[in-house]
Amino acid sequence: MTKVLVVFGSRHGGTQGIAERIGEVLRAEGVDAVVASADHARDVGSADAFVIGSGVYIGSWLNEPLDFVRNHADMLASRPVWLFSSGPLPGATGATNVADPMELALGPAQGPGSGGRKKLDELTAATHPRGHRVFHGAFDPKDPPRAMSERLVRLMPVAKRALPAGDFRNWDDIEAWAREIAASLASPVSVP
Ligand SMILES: Cc1cc2nc3c(=O)[nH]c(=O)nc-3n(C[C@H](O)[C@H](O)[C@H](O)COP(=O)(O)O)c2cc1C
Repeated sequence: MTKVLVVFGSRHGGTQGIAERIGEVLRAEGVDAVVASADHARDVGSADAFVIGSGVYIGSWLNEPLDFVRNHADMLASRPVWLFSSGPLPGATGATNVADPMELALGPAQGPGSGGRKKLDELTAATHPRGHRVFHGAFDPKDPPRAMSERLVRLMPVAKRALPAGDFRNWDDIEAWAREIAASLASPVSVP
């Protein structure tokens, strides 16, 4: 049975929930899926394929999943990999004119504010993922900030409009993507 490691970086649980749902769908489709946070993933080399995702903060993936990909880049380059980013909160100010989901989550590909995107470009070049999906995220202002940068952003006067509260994760989209991954793994031409 194909073994898939679903690895996530999550500060407030939103991305963890997406990773867990992907794992459930993969298992329902007959895949041996294990879900682990990026800093606690074990037995990494025994996986045949990987789904790796991160919550996006200030235009960047979290360090743990970035480090996971960097530390295992050679192995990941030789196995099927899918990436996902969890972030955009619909209705956030400044988001209405941006149609490209990648730009919406991680900022522009070039110029000011492109640092988070460039880090992902580096990982993409190293691992050749079969796909990279952006999923809407969740934000609960009652959940205390977990990093100084987050604390500062939340204190900004525009924070209320920049960070709409709610759970915007689209489970139908997430489940459909997980089924696509399972189907791709089951197809005879599954080696990239
Ligand atoms: C301080 C802060 C900054 C954020 N910055 C971004 C961002 O740059 N791009 C984005 O798409 N989402 C951003 N978000 C939304 C988060 O990515 C979203 O809440 C996500 O679901 C968080 O995942 P987690 O619960 O797994 O940590 C931000 C949220 C907070 C609280």
